[in-house]
Amino acid sequence: MKLEKCITETNVNQNMLNIKYAVRGPILERAIQIERELEKGVKKPFERVVRANIGDCHALGQPPITFIRQVLALAACPALASSPDVPDDVKQRVKELLEDCTKGSVGSYSPSNGLNLVRRSVAEYLEARDGVAASLEDVYLGSGASDVIKAVLSLFVQDVDGKPPAVMIPIPQYPLFSGTLSELGLRQANYYLDEDNDWAIQVQELERSWREASRQCHVRALVVINPGNPTGQVLARENMEEIIKFAYDHELFILADEVYQENIISKPFHSFKKMKPPAPGEASHAGFRREAQAARRRLAARARSAHRVFNSIPGLSCNAIDGAMFAFPRIEIPERAQVAAAEAGLQPDEFYCLRLLEETGVCVVPGSGFGQRPGSFHFRTTILHPRAEFQYMLESVRRFHAAFRQSYS
Ligand SMILES: Cc1ncc(COP(=O)(O)O)c(C=O)c1O
Repeated sequence: MKLEKCITETNVNQNMLNIKYAVRGPILERAIQIERELEKGVKKPFERVVRANIGDCHALGQPPITFIRQVLALAACPALASSPDVPDDVKQRVKELLEDCTKGSVGSYSPSNGLNLVRRSVAEYLEARDGVAASLEDVYLGSGASDVIKAVLSLFVQDVDGKPPAVMIPIPQYPLFSGTLSELGLRQANYYLDEDNDWAIQVQELERSWREASRQCHVRALVVINPGNPTGQVLARENMEEIIKFAYDHELFILADEVYQENIISKPFHSFKKMKPPAPGEASHAGFRREAQAARRRLAARARSAHRVFNSIPGLSCNAIDGAMFAFPRIEIPERAQVAAAEAGLQPDEFYCLRLLEETGVCVVPGSGFGQRPGSFHFRTTILHPRAEFQYMLESVRRFHAAFRQSYS
């Protein structure tokens, strides 16, 4: 009997085939191959691969916040409560949490919109942040931002007045958005962030994008990523007010992705407020603050180094990094290198990142994976590495870029 595959490229959901996720794309695959080659003793102009393609804090050595780990550990294993290492406020937190779980176990099913206690805490946080009433009935918890973003975007999969729905997303963007739109079959309406003005969102550009998309589609929602990924900007309050007004005028739902609200480096973040941290006076408060501040200090130091070094390399420029955990420098790619890229069937910045990987072991993500203005080129690197590793990476980029420019100039 001949065995046929029941899922093939032709009969699978075609929307899935269009999903591109550059942060784990072909450059990473090549980096993994190179790591194996190095293990086997293949000689390279470098000794190790530096993975800078994703912002994986703990994998890059950032210590986890003790309080959060203690709450998680105790909730999963209440017998640990007898340990003298667990502070009283952690015990109290977990006691309240478990009281809200059926039969006092985190393993039992929770309500589909999340535990009541957690939803109430979220509502209280929103009230304190915004100064207006918030109801736990309006809070919906998921297993992460991706899960909830997909659930919300699914609401718009519906033609309106005979027009297919579209969603406005920033360019550059985090590929979760383009990927989810592809998966759901929603049209993508791009609006460009203004690189010359710290990646601000210009209302004129929002209007242009909305007008163009509205010829064919009904625009339903506007995605804002703040702090930005990959761009690292924190929006100014006045800018946010303009965006809200624009959305109101065009009856758009605003999807504000604020996953990096704790990762603030320089500018103030307006909806910033710490969620469910230990209150002053509680046993874990000082430790929690110390650990969170240390993480923020490390991030700010790396952001400053990245900004300084990238701007000191002829042919590279980088806006100040206000938040999140990435740098997104702009790179000049000589004409001859662009021709070589086309001959290799690659985008110019893919070609650049692949050469960077092959010659230095540094693995970053080409800007084309996030979207960028035509004719401009970038790459994204995380800024989370330990200091020595980060300096090594920046110096590798400096050396590589000079040699690259020279060989293609
Ligand atoms: C801007 C942005 N939104 C959403 C996500 C996804 O978050 P989660 O891991 O909670 O699904 C990420 C993860 O990197 C992100 O950078």
